Amino acid sequence: MSVPIIRTVAALREIVAAWRREGARIAVVPTMGALHEGHLSLVRAAMGRADRVIVTLFVNPKQFNSQADLAAYPRTEHEDAAKLAPLEAHLLYAPHASEMYPEGFASTVSVSGVSEGMCGAFRPGHFEGVATVVAKLFLQTGADFAFFGEKDFQQLHVVKRMVRDLDIPITVVACPTVREADGLALSSRNVRLSPAERAIAPKLPSVLLESAERLARGSAIVPTLAEARAAILAAGYRDVEYLELRGETDLQSLASLERPARLLAAAWLGETRLIDNVRTSPTISTRK
Ligand code: PAF
Repeated sequence: MSVPIIRTVAALREIVAAWRREGARIAVVPTMGALHEGHLSLVRAAMGRADRVIVTLFVNPKQFNSQADLAAYPRTEHEDAAKLAPLEAHLLYAPHASEMYPEGFASTVSVSGVSEGMCGAFRPGHFEGVATVVAKLFLQTGADFAFFGEKDFQQLHVVKRMVRDLDIPITVVACPTVREADGLALSSRNVRLSPAERAIAPKLPSVLLESAERLARGSAIVPTLAEARAAILAAGYRDVEYLELRGETDLQSLASLERPARLLAAAWLGETRLIDNVRTSPTISTRK
């Protein structure tokens, strides 16, 4: 059966109210479309946790700091709906920009601390755009659970902080990054890679993983990160925006690996910006 598509807050609220009368638990999976197996894994996890699952599809102009990037973002609603049908998701909420940001829209949700540095430093305004749209999606859907991938690890922290700070009654569920067989994290941006770039791309996760293992075995942080950066560039990436070790639960910068952490990076391969992160800890490291 095909997934019903709705475009207005009013229609969404009517459906959600009926589900509430039945006592259903509701989950939301926020997306910008161009769905891949990573998104579908979130939908499957949501189906296992809730009685009704809403997938949202909105290419949020407020989180793009480059008009070219916004224009190039893949828009594949028809294919996305087809991918959701076999999973039996209950609703695809795909509002137009005028529904999300009507004339006169003037509010912004800003989360300090966890938004700063890393993607926040290189994409000014990005996390304000994310927090604003995610807050709206949470309020519009009134969902009990929200599912996010760990690939966007800083985004996950921004959303969790916002939910705590604003007392939004929703449980944020983090799901592991889904990877290709060669280790490349699934991303809607991967389709932009040329065949030559696609061959180089898995070097980012492999260097991160190797460095995470070295750190877990006690290697010093500064030289290990410097060598990782050099290895990513030597593989053919044109720039490494950041490569940092941060605490897993609070995203604090770490001077030593005294607790579980994430090694996080953003790097440019030709005209495509890829991000990734892996877990490490003083005793073990595991690919996520
Ligand atoms: O991760 C994404 O696809 C987006 O940042 C999100 C959470 C759907 C908000 O637009």
